[in-house]
Amino acid sequence: MEDRLSRRTFFGVTGGAAVAAALPSPALPLRPGGAARAAAVSSENGLRAVTRAMELVAGGTDTLDAAVEGVKIQELDPADNSVGYGGLPNEDGVVQLDASCMHGPTRRAGAVAGLEGIKTPSEVARLVLKYTDHILLVGEGAKRFALSYGFREEELLTPESRQLWLTWRANRGNDDDWLNVPENERLVARPTGTINLNVVNSRGDVSSVTTTSGLAWKIPGRVGDSPLVGAGQYTDNDIGAAGSTGRGEAVIMVCGGFLTVEHMRRGMAPTDACLETLKRVLRATPPRLLLPDGRPSFNLNFYAVNKRGDSGAASFFPGRYAAHDGKAGTLRDTAHLYQRSS
Ligand code: GLY
Repeated sequence: MEDRLSRRTFFGVTGGAAVAAALPSPALPLRPGGAARAAAVSSENGLRAVTRAMELVAGGTDTLDAAVEGVKIQELDPADNSVGYGGLPNEDGVVQLDASCMHGPTRRAGAVAGLEGIKTPSEVARLVLKYTDHILLVGEGAKRFALSYGFREEELLTPESRQLWLTWRANRGNDDDWLNVPENERLVARPTGTINLNVVNSRGDVSSVTTTSGLAWKIPGRVGDSPLVGAGQYTDNDIGAAGSTGRGEAVIMVCGGFLTVEHMRRGMAPTDACLETLKRVLRATPPRLLLPDGRPSFNLNFYAVNKRGDSGAASFFPGRYAAHDGKAGTLRDTAHLYQRSS
């Protein structure tokens, strides 16, 4: 009763014009003639992905299907140890994959987290989007869902990723029963790879996908930003799409994908929107993750494309990203807030 009264009072006092002003702003205008420029933007490991996605979009493929086909190249590549097959495992040596996607024209989303044994979580996320009334499936349920669609359960560790994990396990501390691996054997730092891909076609329809094996050697069950809609990626077909790679916990704290799209809604160009989100991340970063001079002790990257086909990317420290403007895919330098530490 009280709620109804207050709602009536609100509408009575404010009037229609004020209510309209409070609604989200309208769609970003397209280019003269009512067209967009087809474009794709991705992380540094996404050069083949943007190229494949744009080939498909040029042939009339839907932007989400094109984006999934693009990122699948990395998911299936055993040499990319940040994604899919060959992705680095959790601390138990088990690969747990995360992915999410959004389809602008239908305003739908799908995601999976902690998925084991399936090489292409982006495809499973798209099935969640298309065939369920849910958005996120996790763990054993996500695997059973994938198997029901005919996916095969496979070993996701490659000989190389297993070796990297064994080396990490042996060398992680001195207070255990594992003998250290000699220093001349390869040890990797703790990477947070991932691929994010955002695609727009010449009608201005937008989609986004992010897929990852997450933080290497993570605590089993840890989920980062990639499968969280609004964090690791976000699409609003009125505005554009954005996504991220890097320390997922930092992205989750500011709803980074969503925030970047909101910056574009307020008129920012994609690169500026990414930079603005990084500044917000910095304000949300606890002191333990800051260097003595105030810079972050981790890197983070945002990638964005707007409905018109402008794209850009930014990171804390200098980096690269993949972009395709409809003519060619290239690796470009990200805008950045800081130089590398000396
Ligand atoms: N951004 C990937 C992750 O943190 O899992």
